[in-house]
Amino acid sequence: MHIVHIALEMAPIAKVGGLGDVVTSLSRAVQDLGHNVEVILPKYDCLNLSNVKDLHYQQSFAWGGTEIKVWFGKVEDLPVYFLEPQNGMFWVGCVYGKNDESRFGFFCHSALEFLLQKGSAPDIIHCHDWSSAPVAWLYKEQYALNGLGNGRVVFTIHNLEFGAHHIGKAMAHCDKATTVSDTYSKEVAGHGAIAPHYFKFHGIRNGIDPDIWDPYTDNFIPVHYTSENVVEGKSAAKKALQQMLGLQQTDTPIVGIISRLTVQKGIHLIKHAIYRTLERNGQVVLLGSAPDPRIQGDFTNLASQLHGEYHGRVKLCLTYDEPLSHLIYAGADFILVPSIFEPCGLTQLIAMRYGSIPIVRKTGGLYDTVFDVDDDKDRAQAQGLEPNGFSFEGADSSGVDYALDRQVAISTFYDARDWFNSLCKRVMEQDWSWNRPALDYMELYHSARKN
Ligand code: ADP
Ligand code: GLC
Repeated sequence: MHIVHIALEMAPIAKVGGLGDVVTSLSRAVQDLGHNVEVILPKYDCLNLSNVKDLHYQQSFAWGGTEIKVWFGKVEDLPVYFLEPQNGMFWVGCVYGKNDESRFGFFCHSALEFLLQKGSAPDIIHCHDWSSAPVAWLYKEQYALNGLGNGRVVFTIHNLEFGAHHIGKAMAHCDKATTVSDTYSKEVAGHGAIAPHYFKFHGIRNGIDPDIWDPYTDNFIPVHYTSENVVEGKSAAKKALQQMLGLQQTDTPIVGIISRLTVQKGIHLIKHAIYRTLERNGQVVLLGSAPDPRIQGDFTNLASQLHGEYHGRVKLCLTYDEPLSHLIYAGADFILVPSIFEPCGLTQLIAMRYGSIPIVRKTGGLYDTVFDVDDDKDRAQAQGLEPNGFSFEGADSSGVDYALDRQVAISTFYDARDWFNSLCKRVMEQDWSWNRPALDYMELYHSARKN
């Protein structure tokens, strides 16, 4: 089958959040199943070109009153077409910025025009979130009738919080729609953008790419490890992390947080958990940045207060840093994800791949992938899994306390160390790759073709 993703983010060259990870990792998984998968992306100035192989100029075409240059290269072995309108629309320093709605609309239109002019007729055109939602209606209203073959449009909602109007319109036009976990699909079932189209809406949980996130080959951690030497690997990573961030070199539990700092991610619970962990003699490492300058400022103040009051025991790194994220996934004992809502969430899955124990709020994809060691044994078993973390309900601090107090308390961490180590080994051995969900996508693509 020939599948083309039209997207605004793609890891690792233009990643803002999990959407970028999914475009790359889902495409790779489907390509590995033997299909022809291509991606079309804007050629931003901010592209991380060191991760594009054999980038070269291919052709130009005229559309929308400008010349559009087409570049081609490989990203993580995937064929990628980069569109560069000569009106300078994407000569920008980051993915999101000014006039996004009109820039992204222009891009979606020009991507379809490019396929048409190239004589390409994909079986599936896959678009994502509000940013490439216009593909759905442009294709159906203009291009399907206009010679771009008999393709089907699949639309994936990664986050309904943004651009609900665009999402509703894409829902009406696409052949199939998905969102990124089963529980989130139910949570949003009644939403005005979803409800009328629920019959074609499916929850397929995200996976992670086990080759991209692999502690056995990861260049950003000091000792490579598998589940067999997880204790050795993680303790070397913990030392390196503590040293790099100026934390005390003690074997206390480290709670890591790697997150966009937005209301979605449970900011008040993150703050509460930081204090709670420190009270329990644990250490905290937070890596995150806030798109909202007020929230960024708030965390900058919190950081200077905490760095003074709990010197050597807490570090807030208020930036985006891919290499540091790898070291935290490996060096932390716990990764906290207390989101208010979470369509899927990837950080809890990456955490497990690195043998770190997720502590999550029971919502969306976090509910579907993390099973509490005390409370969710039956639910885990029904999935053929062993429990793999800690979770809590409610959006007030008592829930976080319930999850944290059981394990982060320093005495518990020491007393139950063998048990804790076996839990780390167990979570590493669970399969949160695309193995299963990629097959679900293939089934969905096939059923879209039958419509
Ligand atoms: P979302 O897409 O809602 O932000 P996900 O959990 O799906 O949340 O994906 C987040 C992705 O972004 C993960 O790959 C995570 O490691 C990465 N990430 C988030 N914040 C940072 C940061 N400050 N530095 C580096 N990577 C980050
Ligand atoms: C969104 C969601 C997140 C999801 C990601 C990838 O950004 O907030 O939960 O994992 O998209 O689908």
